[in-house]
Amino acid sequence: MKIGIFADAQECASVASEIIIDLFADDPTSVLGVATGSTPEPTYQMLRQAHQAGRFSLAKGQAFALDEYVGIPSDHPERYRNMLLRNLVENDATGLLDENLHTPDSEHPDPQVAAAEYEAKIAAIGGVSLQILGIGTDGHIGFNEPGTSLTEVTHVDYLMEQTRIDNARFFDHQIDQVPTQCITQGLGTIMSAKRILLLATGKQKAEAVKEICEGSVSAFWPGSILQMHRQATVLLDEDAASHLQLADYYRQRWALQQG
Ligand code: F6R
Repeated sequence: MKIGIFADAQECASVASEIIIDLFADDPTSVLGVATGSTPEPTYQMLRQAHQAGRFSLAKGQAFALDEYVGIPSDHPERYRNMLLRNLVENDATGLLDENLHTPDSEHPDPQVAAAEYEAKIAAIGGVSLQILGIGTDGHIGFNEPGTSLTEVTHVDYLMEQTRIDNARFFDHQIDQVPTQCITQGLGTIMSAKRILLLATGKQKAEAVKEICEGSVSAFWPGSILQMHRQATVLLDEDAASHLQLADYYRQRWALQQG
């Protein structure tokens, strides 16, 4: 794992967006794995700015979402497809075409079939070039909650109570409005991405960050599986990094790696 620690969320987003811009400069047909939630939003904003400035385009690329709620109305603003359309597609946000934004089909009559089809679609395209991730306060990546198999593929799963509490802020603070079921890439699917870029900002992520970076690899903290990935980069603000035992070493090593 490469671990970068920065002053604030804006600086993390700046580093993340430059990594993504470089990837698409090298290969405009790359496949971007896109997370939703609050954490990647500043990064998406910087990608939109870079697109406006003519430095970045997803016009020849593809994007695959990590997950989607099951049972959410198709026009709900918090449906992950809608969030990604707003951030990456609408008004020529990044050049990404609607048909090149792929999300699990949460309206399929059989979500299990939809999950299997989504996994097959990722495999058919040759996998994700770079997967953006956030992290839940319980250590989930995608919606792989504690106890999920470390090698699972895309599947139907259930949100933990803590995740529904955390996400209630998107649903007028009404936990009952937060869906209980989701389709998510599994940890095995996420691990098959060629590169991983995990972003975490804010004090509320500090414990999960400590556990996934410095704890044992365990299904109790699902993000800890990233310790087994050869090209995983973790970008943190000072608050999210505040429980790390080896923070000073990570800072020094990051500076040397960039130099
Ligand atoms: C989103 C996702 C989740 C979030 C995580 C953190 O597609 O899969 O794992 O990344 O819940 O969410 P935020 O960024 O809102 O704190």
